Amino acid sequence: MTRADLRIAVLISGSGSNLQALLDAIAGGEIAGRIVRVISNRAEAGGLERARRAGVETEVLPHGDYPDRETYDAALAARLNTVSPDLVVLAGFMRILSDGFVEAFQGRLVNIHPSLLPAYRGLHTHARALQAGDREHGCSVHYVIPALDAGPVIAQASLPVHETDTPESLETRVRTLEHRLYPLVVRWIADGRVAMRAGRVCLDGEPLSRPPCITAGTP
Ligand code: GAR
Repeated sequence: MTRADLRIAVLISGSGSNLQALLDAIAGGEIAGRIVRVISNRAEAGGLERARRAGVETEVLPHGDYPDRETYDAALAARLNTVSPDLVVLAGFMRILSDGFVEAFQGRLVNIHPSLLPAYRGLHTHARALQAGDREHGCSVHYVIPALDAGPVIAQASLPVHETDTPESLETRVRTLEHRLYPLVVRWIADGRVAMRAGRVCLDGEPLSRPPCITAGTP
């Protein structure tokens, strides 16, 4: 794959800080691809403005306009297919996806989740890590499969939990790590280094036995 080849679509629901990290990495020449569309299920998502500022086409597809999840997901898939994405990046897209949608994009659908998976699938990950007394916390990028937050992990980033941490402080520090991890993984995918084969992540042609993990202090 040559530079600027990977066609990336990004799905958001909120502030879009991970989207911004991807836009910055692309603008800086770090990712051999471009974002061809940003779609939000919420009209007020701050990420829409970030995309527009970068000259990326946006679309709002409000889930409230559809009678059920399957109908919404079919409309979302149809919108995505108009831009023929090689990769669909979930960046704070706060919806559970139907099996049909996930299967249609399997192998080219990735998500970032604010925990060291398989720990803390679902919501309130920072509070749950604190409650459990974890000494380490972080985030994961994984391929999406029908089961929630259960797809094969491509890479993680971790940090030490401080005694003084609150759910909010942990969220802020993990979010900063997310902004390093997501562009790195998308770069690997754009460079053809990462793929999902037979349900497993391969990096440089080898099935991963453990996902690589970057830590807070590493450059
Ligand atoms: C991120 O922290 C991401 O990990 C989380 O939503 C946030 C979106 O922030 N995603 C999930 O919890 C998905 N289960 P952003 O809109 O600023 O990128």
